[in-house]
Amino acid sequence: MTVAASLSTVTAAELAASRAILEREGLAGPDVHFSYVGLQEPDKRELLKSGSSDRRLRSMLVNMATNESWDVVVSPAEDRVVSSHKLDHAVDGQVPVVVEEFHLVEEVIHENPEWLAAMARRGLTDLSTLRVNPLSGGVLSDAETGRRIQRCFTFVQKTPDDLGWAHPVDGVTVMIDVVTREVLEVIDYVDLPVPAEDGNFHLASWRGPDREGLKPIEITQPQGPSFTLGQDGTLSWLGWNLQLGFDQREGLVFHNITIDDAGTARPVIYRASIAEMMVPYGDPSPQRWFQNFFDCGEYLLGGYANSLELGCDCVGDITYLDAIVAGNDGNPHVIPQAICIHEEDAGILWKHFDNWNGASASRRNRRLVVSFFVTVGNYDYGFYWYFSLDGSIEFEVKATGVVFTSAYPGRQADGSPYPFASELAPGLGAPYHQHLFSARLDMMVDGLGNSVDELEAALVPRGPQNPTGTGFTQTVTRLRTESDAKRLADNTRGRVWLVSNPSVKNRLGGDVGWVLYPEGKPVLMADADSDIHKRATFSTRHLWVTEYEPTELYPAGDFVNLHPGGAGLPAWTAADRNIDDADIVLWHTFGLTHFPRIEDWPVMPVDTCGFVLKPHGFFGRNPAMDIPESTSDHCAPGGHDHGGNEHAHEHHDHA
Ligand code: NI
Repeated sequence: MTVAASLSTVTAAELAASRAILEREGLAGPDVHFSYVGLQEPDKRELLKSGSSDRRLRSMLVNMATNESWDVVVSPAEDRVVSSHKLDHAVDGQVPVVVEEFHLVEEVIHENPEWLAAMARRGLTDLSTLRVNPLSGGVLSDAETGRRIQRCFTFVQKTPDDLGWAHPVDGVTVMIDVVTREVLEVIDYVDLPVPAEDGNFHLASWRGPDREGLKPIEITQPQGPSFTLGQDGTLSWLGWNLQLGFDQREGLVFHNITIDDAGTARPVIYRASIAEMMVPYGDPSPQRWFQNFFDCGEYLLGGYANSLELGCDCVGDITYLDAIVAGNDGNPHVIPQAICIHEEDAGILWKHFDNWNGASASRRNRRLVVSFFVTVGNYDYGFYWYFSLDGSIEFEVKATGVVFTSAYPGRQADGSPYPFASELAPGLGAPYHQHLFSARLDMMVDGLGNSVDELEAALVPRGPQNPTGTGFTQTVTRLRTESDAKRLADNTRGRVWLVSNPSVKNRLGGDVGWVLYPEGKPVLMADADSDIHKRATFSTRHLWVTEYEPTELYPAGDFVNLHPGGAGLPAWTAADRNIDDADIVLWHTFGLTHFPRIEDWPVMPVDTCGFVLKPHGFFGRNPAMDIPESTSDHCAPGGHDHGGNEHAHEHHDHA
């Protein structure tokens, strides 16, 4: 077995084999729901040394009759359970939400007298129109600790075709124990009218006539795409090599990202993924203060990947891959066409017209795009990874879908707007919220020994070295330990983080490196003493750096669901390990702070966030000097390279 084979995505056969072992050992059964199944990756250091490893699968299981849950690792090849841990829910938290929980809440709530009375008081008596929206419970009180909880809102769906998000029944929150099927609490806090206006964006009758005048845009690649894809997920494209994988929790996972330099494949990243994303809501009202959703750790977003449609979701010469995840029963579940691979034009790569020598040259950039889309409740997210000819790696989230709605409480006594939500349509509110992502970047810049420097622009005081006061410089600060490396971005100083390898020099004698460019948007907007701050401490800093440890995978911990907090990055970095010339992992928080606009309703135009990584002293010059001139028919003959001459004159006259 090769390194690639050791790390490739779990197969349907492995899922089936793993399930059979668990059943034989009494760990799977009729009441046991499979929350998560994925590859338990080998220790990187051992894998890189030995070149292969036994394939192991990790399952997170919950018995919905007894509320017992397990974290189990099996070896299909050795036909045995390798390890099994029964969770102590009060300490460990719970395994992620299972599909069953979505289905049962409506059934339970529809029979609850207190909720029925709350609805009747609002004139809502037709049960067939009342949709119950189950939401992860967040932090529990002492009385509820250890229970498996969902908190639920109600929405009115007037007809089967109606968009229920347009009609929130605000002020009522129901807390349910999904194991005992008990309603523990009905909060009936405030009686606000249910917003009446529809938001049926999917119906032509609601939207109105289509805009006219759109001429077709067709993308054609008559000779096919420039990438090749191997059976084990190895993807090669114009100097880039990487291994593509898919996980039920994280979605796309890349291993062994290398870039070609004069025939040598040089390592950049050992493993890259989006390891968590969290959506905290900023309305502290009694009925919705708990709204903080961890879409990886609580909901396992990879399992909610969409099947993509050619020509609608993706354009051009597309290669699709299916995603294989575990279903609720542990059997393989195939999501057809979940992963989209294509290349696209990316504008100008480099260009110059030289007035002195008359030379004119220009090259077009293109990028390899690997993406997938998920729907998690009301929101839809596209996860797009871009690899470009200039050596840059970019990650972009495309956030769209329907914003979470509320009933807008109206203006306050002094005439000022409600401070925690926007009004999107008459009486329809959208609570302010954030979308905070954590990229886990297990760096390997030309080897395992890497260091991180913080670079930023700095004024130089007037003095003998700067008599005119016009001097400015870039400061370089080495982050030596994990506590040094808990950093915020600062766009006013152009703050970036350089990951370098002190053992490998570029041709000018400097350390080879790669720079992370953050967008520098707000981190978590919650009090340091708040529950969500404890549960999502990762999101309070743009940067964390840790020493590699194979079990440290998720920045808010392994079991985020109903976890009291403190797990993941804050716990690991308490050891304050050395990260200078060490095997390191970067954790980068980025995201959107969303004050919804009227224009975000009824379906939100895509908003984006992400980050960029670029080589920095890694190559000896612009790595895209070998890109040939474009041969596209769309390039006019006059647009091709000129070696120098009369054009110089012509342009010089204008200059
Ligand atoms: Ni949003």
